Amino acid sequence: MNLNLKVWRQNSPEDKGKMVDYQLEGISEHMSFLEMMDVLNGKLIDSGERPVAFDHDCREGICGSCSMFINGEAHGPVKGTTTCQLHMRSFKDGDTIFIEPFRANAFPVIKDLVIDRSAFDRIQHSGGYISVNTSGNTQDANATPIPKENADLAMDAATCIGCGACVATCKNSSAMLFVGAKISQYALLPQGQVEAKERAQNMVAQMDAEGFGNCTNTGACEVECPKGISLSNIARMNREFLDGSVTK
Ligand code: SF4
Ligand code: FES
Repeated sequence: MNLNLKVWRQNSPEDKGKMVDYQLEGISEHMSFLEMMDVLNGKLIDSGERPVAFDHDCREGICGSCSMFINGEAHGPVKGTTTCQLHMRSFKDGDTIFIEPFRANAFPVIKDLVIDRSAFDRIQHSGGYISVNTSGNTQDANATPIPKENADLAMDAATCIGCGACVATCKNSSAMLFVGAKISQYALLPQGQVEAKERAQNMVAQMDAEGFGNCTNTGACEVECPKGISLSNIARMNREFLDGSVTK
């Protein structure tokens, strides 16, 4: 298939940036979206131009690095799918495809489609961990019974890959779906109880300090999340936050 690409090019964080047009011919519908970008970059390198910078690692939908806004949607048009798992059969011959970075004040563009998501790392460092006894008297994890429903919900929350699509999609650039998932993952398990009183307080404080907006219950984050993270995780985060507030 032949494609018209409109790609965001930005040399540095200070550069204003602009959309640039590229034409590609002979793209296979079996290619992934990132393989199509590889073809574009091969063409740019052959003609002496700077290739398009974009993040990718696993290309299996698990690392969360392949953030692209494709035709106005985080990770493109297919529900429950990361950019790296998107295939060109989702597009038609002759299509024009707009490709931009995820945009949010807390995610500054570094270069082209690469954004700085270290704000997510700092939120995780503020509370996204557990304390474990490693003294040699460690208890067998299987000795702590966990209700099946809680284990399933914790596992669902743990599927968040930290991609940032929720932030990029939200009109308020809210990170609450991400933070709600990270808090829920621990709040539902006995292992998460040691820091339970401070975790939501600390992670929400860091989220605010990074400049993410507040949730106004629009629900766009849940719709665009490639891992199907539920809004109920935001409700659990709010309960954990309230619990930490009143018992301090
Ligand atoms: S909640 Fe979903 S959209 Fe947000 S970072 Fe996690 S996986 Fe990505
Ligand atoms: S490259 Fe890892 S999720 Fe897409």
